Amino acid sequence: MINFKIDYNNFTLKEKFFDHKSSLHGINHTYRVMFNCLYLSKKINKKESGLLAFCAAFIHDMARKHDGLCKEHGLWACESKFDLYKDKFINQGVNTSQFDEIKFAVKNHSENVEITETHPYYLTTAILKDADALDRFRISDDNLNPDFLRFDISKTLIPFAKNFFLKTNKINFRDFYQVIDFGEKIYPKV
Ligand SMILES: [Fe+2]
Ligand SMILES: [Fe+2]
Repeated sequence: MINFKIDYNNFTLKEKFFDHKSSLHGINHTYRVMFNCLYLSKKINKKESGLLAFCAAFIHDMARKHDGLCKEHGLWACESKFDLYKDKFINQGVNTSQFDEIKFAVKNHSENVEITETHPYYLTTAILKDADALDRFRISDDNLNPDFLRFDISKTLIPFAKNFFLKTNKINFRDFYQVIDFGEKIYPKV
């Protein structure tokens, strides 16, 4: 069981939250990345970073202007989306002193910049980026290079992430509880 103390009712995504309507970077992709953040952080036993990465995932692609290569949409999400949803994060126990960590992960996810494991925000950032990368099968079958994944455990999740995408690509999710139901049936138990 994923078993985070998060009220997922507060994290239902709506089309209007996104600046650019997209099936590639829209609701279903974002939900899968949110799930992957929780699952991965549980696997590596870093649930606090997992909560921050989950919050980062919620907004990470909301400020995209197009589906093409873009290094700035993380920064744009920090600037135009974070304040809109920060109360949701606080309600789940995120401290205001952790805001910079969430924003750093969101900004970094779209930049071509890798940070070292000694960086104070490494875990949250790496969880978000691996969770996002694990959903790259929606672009094409060979779009995910396992060598670019940051955690060894992420590499073992590739077939499950692919199946997660295939099984949920066309679904109109009611809420994140439904995403969890799918994810928990597809991924190995944690
Ligand atoms: Fe992105
Ligand atoms: Fe993404």
